[in-house]
Amino acid sequence: MVLVAASAASCSRGPASQADPVSVPMVLPLRVPGRPAFDVRHQRRQGIASLSVPALDVRTEARAAVGQRMFFDASLGGDGRIACVRCHHAETAGAGPAQTLADVGHLDVPPLLNLHAYERFGTDGAAKELAVYMGAHLAQLSAGADLAARDLAIDTTHGGRLRLLFATADGEAAVPVSTMASRALAAYVDSLVAPGRVDAFLAGKDDALTDKESHGFDVFFERGCVSCHDGPAFGGRKMATLGLVRPWPGDAPLGEHIPWSPKRSRRVSSLRSVAVTAPYFHEGAIDSLPTAVSLMAEHQLGVTLTPEDRDAIVSFLLALNAPSPASFRAP
Ligand code: HEC
Ligand code: HEC
Repeated sequence: MVLVAASAASCSRGPASQADPVSVPMVLPLRVPGRPAFDVRHQRRQGIASLSVPALDVRTEARAAVGQRMFFDASLGGDGRIACVRCHHAETAGAGPAQTLADVGHLDVPPLLNLHAYERFGTDGAAKELAVYMGAHLAQLSAGADLAARDLAIDTTHGGRLRLLFATADGEAAVPVSTMASRALAAYVDSLVAPGRVDAFLAGKDDALTDKESHGFDVFFERGCVSCHDGPAFGGRKMATLGLVRPWPGDAPLGEHIPWSPKRSRRVSSLRSVAVTAPYFHEGAIDSLPTAVSLMAEHQLGVTLTPEDRDAIVSFLLALNAPSPASFRAP
């Protein structure tokens, strides 16, 4: 417990968290006189909500269905340069090899499952709503393209369905077809939720994880990983400075009070799909999960993990993986 509190303190010392305070779900071992101490693992599990599959209303479901058609349309936008499947591969939870994008540079393509549990989108964490992120992402992917031709191509293939969906929606009938497209794509991506064994474990089913995996869950808490990788997606909610405690390889040493730097401050990745999303980190620089885990402990927490602790964490992280929902394939 002390370790969780200590890492939480180190987390909130970072420059990024001054701009954006890190709130840590504090789980203190309470002791009621005359009763045994609370079951610490039980309390920890209660501190993390299970993933819940959102119940879609009829309108959102219809939008998600059109979003699914667009997602798997390999020629989306006419020349296919914005086609989601070109970069986001369904067989690896939506992740794919790094790509160069206008303005943001060479970035690993992130997974697209469980974004419903995120609070920030994109590795810079700037967008707090998925539909807003999708609008910006479409523009980014179309940089330098003929936008009128792109919209005409979207309109020709998907315009009929989109217009039908948006015609009766208050205030949305007049939005451009590209906005309708980004909203439908956001509805679709938001619907891709993949609960797994860990959710049964969080809900109280002790044997849903093996002994090694549940030990890994404990180490993940005790070492303080959870101070950043929190919430149902084990990430996707906070910003954190890379190299918070020890400078990241290749980075100049971080002073205590350097101004908030968007380059070093990154949205904390979700760990739900790490089993299938190698290579790791926003530039895809690290191929091995055990190495990624040791680097995180070293640079984000100032902790050198024993091989046993590292392996326990890795087996817990691998247990976070779950089959993609049936809708994550071409309709
Ligand atoms: C050229 C490759 C490429 C294409 C095409 C592409 N993406 Fe992406 N996508 C990326 C990269 C790279 C990122 C990470 C960008 C960043 O973090 O700033 C990303 C990020 C995202 C995110 C944010 C995920 C997160 O972790 O917050 C979503 C959502 C997304 N893409 C959906 C889509 C959809 C839907 C399409 C189809 C319209 C699409 N993308 C097309 C490369 C691509
Ligand atoms: C101070 C905050 C912080 C702490 C503590 C922290 N992480 Fe991270 N973690 C991050 C951030 C930020 C990223 C995204 C890095 C990037 O985009 O390059 C990340 C990324 C990762 C990744 C790569 C995910 C991917 O798909 O690329 C793994 C694996 C990981 N962390 C595991 C851990 C483990 C295990 C611990 C505990 C030993 C831990 N982290 C502690 C902030 C933190």
